[in-house]
Amino acid sequence: MTLDKKNSINNILEEKRIFPPSKKFAENSNISTQEELLSLKKQASDNPIQFWESFAKSELDWFEPFQTVLDNENAPFFKWFKEGKLNITYNCLDRHIKRGLGGKTALIWEGEPGDSKKYTYEELLKEVCRAANALKAIGVKKGDLVCIYMPMIPEAMFAMLACARIGAPHSVVFGGFSSEALKDRLIDGNARYVITADGGFRKDKVIELKQAVDAAIENGADKVVEKVVVVQRTKKNISMVDDRDLWWHELVKDQKDQCEPEIMSSEDRLFILYTSGSTGKPKGVVHTTGGYNLWSHLTFKWIFDLKDDDIYWCTADVGWITGHSYIVYGPLSNGATTLMYEGVPRRSNLGAFWEIVQKYKVSIFYTAPTAIRAFMKSGREIPDKYNLESLRLLGTVGEPINPEAWMWYKDVIGKDKCPIVDTWWQTETGGVMISPLPGVVATKPGSATFPLPGIEVEIVDKDGDKVKENEGGYLIIKKPWPGMMRTIHGNSKRYLESYWEYISFKGEKNVYFAGDGARIDEDGYIWIMGRVDDVISVSGHRLGTMEIESALVSHKSVAESAVVGKKDDLKGEVIVAFVSLEKDVNGSSELVEDLKKHVVNEIGIIAKPEKIIISDSLPKTRSGKIMRRILRSLAGGEKISGDISTLEDSSVLEKLKELS
Ligand code: PRX
Repeated sequence: MTLDKKNSINNILEEKRIFPPSKKFAENSNISTQEELLSLKKQASDNPIQFWESFAKSELDWFEPFQTVLDNENAPFFKWFKEGKLNITYNCLDRHIKRGLGGKTALIWEGEPGDSKKYTYEELLKEVCRAANALKAIGVKKGDLVCIYMPMIPEAMFAMLACARIGAPHSVVFGGFSSEALKDRLIDGNARYVITADGGFRKDKVIELKQAVDAAIENGADKVVEKVVVVQRTKKNISMVDDRDLWWHELVKDQKDQCEPEIMSSEDRLFILYTSGSTGKPKGVVHTTGGYNLWSHLTFKWIFDLKDDDIYWCTADVGWITGHSYIVYGPLSNGATTLMYEGVPRRSNLGAFWEIVQKYKVSIFYTAPTAIRAFMKSGREIPDKYNLESLRLLGTVGEPINPEAWMWYKDVIGKDKCPIVDTWWQTETGGVMISPLPGVVATKPGSATFPLPGIEVEIVDKDGDKVKENEGGYLIIKKPWPGMMRTIHGNSKRYLESYWEYISFKGEKNVYFAGDGARIDEDGYIWIMGRVDDVISVSGHRLGTMEIESALVSHKSVAESAVVGKKDDLKGEVIVAFVSLEKDVNGSSELVEDLKKHVVNEIGIIAKPEKIIISDSLPKTRSGKIMRRILRSLAGGEKISGDISTLEDSSVLEKLKELS
């Protein structure tokens, strides 16, 4: 890992503008004064155990209390609230009904073709209970992993909560992943059950999820998968396999709408979610019940300044951590009204998002910088056609937001009256770690501002020494927090190596390395610089270069490949692949297209390379290591700087320059 992104990013971040929240917003916000915020931060640093203990007690309902707040005996395999017993669905559903909120809308759902549904808390609980009983009826037991591979329909939420209700961890796989990627995740997690749909609507097309499940099972996942439950969404013809495949609607229709929540230990697994790392195959990030419940709940409450009548919409897919924490668990645990949309803006309806904001009077809107840049590109005339007056708070997540997009978001969508919360976090952190609190913190376009109370961040060099003001370095987190990942499923060694052993801070081993670079400016604001490892972020989707390289070399014509990210105005980064071919294979434009298709088949559409450059050989050091730094410069059309004397054959470079 190198910090070679440092210079370019330091150059673009010369942003000096600063925007305090409006008086009106600040006066009405839940945390509205510097004193309150400072007092929270002081409590957290003076006595972190007491700090977390008091929130865990006041914010969550426990069936049995915990005695130990944090067990660090086997650090960094930390345990939180370990003796405590709870069920996250009780905190997300039952308790709100008990305090008289059963009639409040929990979920508003809008389908891409324009159909829509609403569920109150009472109705949602019934749906979840029916689904939970159906899962029990087909044999799912506490501890069994259930894979959810679904479009953005209410049943995706029911399925997640039904699993949590009966103590079966879920593993949601984003519907844009291919059958190959699904197969790997099914096998790695040993998922005996899959919940899917006959398809979903996206960009005016049907995504064929059931076919992908069938292919994943045929190609190897048959050794783990026993039952497939299929939700009817598109009514397209699909094949159902006897004794294996079951229709959701037939299964749930006669089930009771009551199901006692399973009593879960705080450290029982709630879910696995796969994410890319810099080496090898995706890692199954493990989250457990109590700590994750607290962190997704508390961060949602703090950052989104929730009020009883808010209509909150996060545009992510439930297949990503943002969907887990901020469509499902965080909002529901707080008794909020959460909106879920099946589609995305598309050529036939560029105003889709704003139509929804107008229709449901959305007040809090949370999306990704890539989406904002796409809106900017298609012009303000589109959002200007809609009434966006209901909006009062805007959020972004997933990648660094460029100041220009931030300003556009603030002016055109927020009409200059909505604070923007730029939230930095990761699949591994469970919830947001760095973000402004909207009623208190003055924001700077492009900065995620400050760590939340209880979170201690530092920027250090490779030796773990704190870097100077405004100097780029590695972002580390110095203290454990409740929502942190617990391990990587089946690979605790990788957990230690990837996150805990890379940097030692002042001799302390247990500091968490996030994989991101950042700098802190003269006012203490944090500016995220992007990944410093071999992870590419395409439209905010994390992809490991090694994953894409493995996909390419699995093609019969490819001998070797190296994949790098190239800066892109819209998507943040795009994928550029350098490929050398097997003997006697000729490079042609058909082959390039075939290779792109191959990557899509192996991983999914999000991994499609923008460009594939075929070359006789790749630049390597004398010890045989591919020099990615050079490839990154070539892909980006930049001058090659730095030492190239270690190149084994410098003529490769000249040839590549011609091809790039
Ligand atoms: O590089 C950071 C970037 O997204 C990575 C985490 O990706 P993932 O686990 O898929 O989760 C995305 C949604 C939480 C981080 O390591 N990232 C996330 N949020 C921001 C960000 N980069 C800059 N600014 C952000 N607000």
